[in-house]
Amino acid sequence: MMLLLYLCSLRTLLLLLLTLASVGHAKQQCRLVLQSNFNGNGEGDPQVPLSATPTSSGSTASASATLAPFNYGKDIIRGVNLGGWFVLEPWITLSIFEDTNNSDIIDEYTFGQLQDSEHALSILQDHWETWITEDDFAAINAAGLNHVRMQIGYWSVPIASTDTNYTTSVDPYIPGAWPYLLQALGWAKKHGIHVILDLHGAPGSQNGYDNSGQRGSANWAQGSNVARTLDIVRFIADQIGGMIDVLELLNEPGGYQADIAAVIADYWQDGYNVVRNVSGPSLKVMIGDAFLGVASWDGFLTSPDAQGVLMDYHEYQIFNYDQLEMSQDEHLNYSCSVLSTLRSYAKSNLYTVSGEWSNAITDCAKWLNGRGVGARWDGTWQDGQPTFGSCDGYTGDSSSFSDDYKTFLRKYFESQIAIGEAVQGWIFWTWKAENADDWSYQKGLEGGWIPKDPTDRLYPNICSDS
Ligand SMILES: *[C@@H]1O[C@H](CO)[C@@H](O)[C@H](O)[C@H]1NC(C)=O
Ligand SMILES: *[C@@H]1O[C@H](CO)[C@@H](O)[C@H](O)[C@H]1NC(C)=O
Ligand SMILES: *[C@@H]1O[C@H](CO)[C@@H](O)[C@H](O)[C@H]1NC(C)=O
Ligand SMILES: *[C@@H]1O[C@H](CO)[C@@H](O)[C@H](O)[C@H]1NC(C)=O
Repeated sequence: MMLLLYLCSLRTLLLLLLTLASVGHAKQQCRLVLQSNFNGNGEGDPQVPLSATPTSSGSTASASATLAPFNYGKDIIRGVNLGGWFVLEPWITLSIFEDTNNSDIIDEYTFGQLQDSEHALSILQDHWETWITEDDFAAINAAGLNHVRMQIGYWSVPIASTDTNYTTSVDPYIPGAWPYLLQALGWAKKHGIHVILDLHGAPGSQNGYDNSGQRGSANWAQGSNVARTLDIVRFIADQIGGMIDVLELLNEPGGYQADIAAVIADYWQDGYNVVRNVSGPSLKVMIGDAFLGVASWDGFLTSPDAQGVLMDYHEYQIFNYDQLEMSQDEHLNYSCSVLSTLRSYAKSNLYTVSGEWSNAITDCAKWLNGRGVGARWDGTWQDGQPTFGSCDGYTGDSSSFSDDYKTFLRKYFESQIAIGEAVQGWIFWTWKAENADDWSYQKGLEGGWIPKDPTDRLYPNICSDS
């Protein structure tokens, strides 16, 4: 029933027409195949042969100007994540969860499971239409950024039974985001923004966090989940590989869990093969360190065995007590120490991107640790642990931020972009959040602790000084 709704609802068809008008041509109704001609061909990129020139799609090309390929390895990725858009996170859009009146709805999985599905779909459609709009892409461009990293859950990928020997059921998730994703790819291109498409939620959950779609246990390595994920990756590469610059095979697989650690290297290798088989050499492939540290991936998927692979490294300094305990100066110093670790890895390995980090130095943002879960910072998470004081003035609306704190946020931002600028780039988490201004690029621009031009520094020597 849900699938039928998705495939043939009037609303979806209308959106498809809009999408077609803005980005290209469709091969098949209700399951778009949109190929455009802006594959990065990696000029100046030693990992990619220059012969990999994008093919011209001639008269079928979109009316908007084509976006020149990004020079990975040469130019610096400066970007934002579009968190909470196509994969819900309770702390990013509190209102969507609060409005359910049901405290058992803690992630996108239970959002589909514990309420009427037509109601859930209408809430989601409204969210997909409004959370990020074309204006955001224009604003991202105006902020001097050249990339977005866009999240998608496997349940939003409209794979058919001819594309896989595994189940295509995504129950109880509510599918339907795919046409909105396609529309967004058109906006990105129109506004000069390159796209990293990030598979953020895999069958079974790859890490047990709500940001994978399902909070609880991480069962991705069990049963046929991994094989099924490879079919989903193949489908994505086949359908939209020509419209994105980078395909990230999976976000934050929980390599701290033995069964996931045991399969992750093979998954990266197989996923790389799948993408290369389907898309040819132009599309870049992104893998992550799976919480094992970049040093444990020395020599992995490097040339000549593989071409055009990037390493995604995530850096948060707030999810354990040792890090929360650091003073503001120690946070700055810590960023600078990460810089040297990443630079030393990237020197002889993959192009490396600091793909998620934020301005938060506390875990105070409401529901950051999960709906109904408190913060380590003020002791509302667990008894018998260290506490660091009140959360007041650290998150929420920035009208409560002191001038000293804002000055620190600017230094902290600059110390963290120093990490990314020392390798192949950085991507802030996240563009906007309903009630956590320490996590919002948009609010940082408004409040002045994020520069309107990211090459504009108040503390250019922040790492050499500390
Ligand atoms: C939640 O409760 C409010 C206030 O009683 C009500 O107006 C709203 O319709 C309820 N929402 C749902 C999804 O039941
Ligand atoms: C499904 O299995 C058949 C038989 O092993 C195989 O020929 C086919 O390629 C498989 N299809 C996919 C999409 O993997
Ligand atoms: C890629 O294609 C080659 C040659 O067709 C094939 O042998 C290989 O199994 C394919 N790999 C994957 C992962 O699909
Ligand atoms: C700065 O970081 C380095 C490396 O982590 C550490 O050894 C040193 O003690 C730190 N210095 C200060 C002042 O925190």
